[in-house]
Amino acid sequence: MMENEKDGDAWIATNHPRELTENEKQRLAEDKTCVSDFKQNKLEIEAKKNWDLFYKRNSTNFFKDRHWTTREFEELMSEGEEGKQKSLLEVGCGVGNTVYPLMNASPDIFIHCCDFSPRAVQFVKEHSSFNPARINAFQCDVTCDDLTKHIAASSVDMATMFFVLSAIHPDKMLQSIENIHRVICPGGLVLFRDYGLYDHAMLRFSKGHKLSENFYVRQDGTRAYYFSTDLLSDLFIKAGFDVVINEYVHRETVNKKEGLSVPRVFVQSKFVKRTIEDS
Ligand SMILES: C[S@@+](CC[C@H](N)C(=O)[O-])C[C@H]1O[C@@H](n2cnc3c(N)ncnc32)[C@H](O)[C@@H]1O
Repeated sequence: MMENEKDGDAWIATNHPRELTENEKQRLAEDKTCVSDFKQNKLEIEAKKNWDLFYKRNSTNFFKDRHWTTREFEELMSEGEEGKQKSLLEVGCGVGNTVYPLMNASPDIFIHCCDFSPRAVQFVKEHSSFNPARINAFQCDVTCDDLTKHIAASSVDMATMFFVLSAIHPDKMLQSIENIHRVICPGGLVLFRDYGLYDHAMLRFSKGHKLSENFYVRQDGTRAYYFSTDLLSDLFIKAGFDVVINEYVHRETVNKKEGLSVPRVFVQSKFVKRTIEDS
């Protein structure tokens, strides 16, 4: 189960992960066997291909437009410095479900956006509202490609990372955040939302899908990590950020297909790039 949309206001923000039932604890404890190293290497090598195939299958129809971003992160609506256009890097932009609602909501913003999947980037560029004067869309692997080939160092005011870090191997998460750090201006922000520890989707993986602690592979070869707020703050602090907000958001949602109420858990955070004086 991938996350489509967080809607409504009935989310509860807390500092604690979800309490597991005894059944859930037992289920997690029993799922000890991890996928073989050979298969894990293959998944890493084929990560780009698997995401590209995901967009080949789903085209622009999987994720809903993310209209909640400006409600949850008011900074996205803030004015730029006088005489300077506000700029954003949207990491793992997919087909543009964050880019286009934001471009409408914030008419002065310039958006750099990138994704691993060439096909997803192509969808962004084929969108009826694509405007190269306001959007710089490019393909890249944020774990290793040099973002300064596309964006001037220390130049963007903010970066958004929505459900992208969870798709990256834990060993490469720090490197990815450091890469993003390079293009954000001192005092600039990362606005973050992703899967949280013990989200319903994490508990639904059957045996044979576990890659390592809190890291799983879906049927289509795409992977999902379920974050604790502690891991996130460690990563961002190591990469040169300070924590502004870092919390779990919980909500019971109705899974229409199964007719069940299910507990969704996300982490929502804000990190600020330390200035030289702060370090
Ligand atoms: C779960 S989707 C989320 C898409 C979008 N952020 C959203 O919320 O609708 C994860 C996205 O991250 C991208 N991605 C995965 N690994 C990446 C990497 N190493 N570099 C850049 N993008 C990556 C995938 O191609 C995919 O579009």
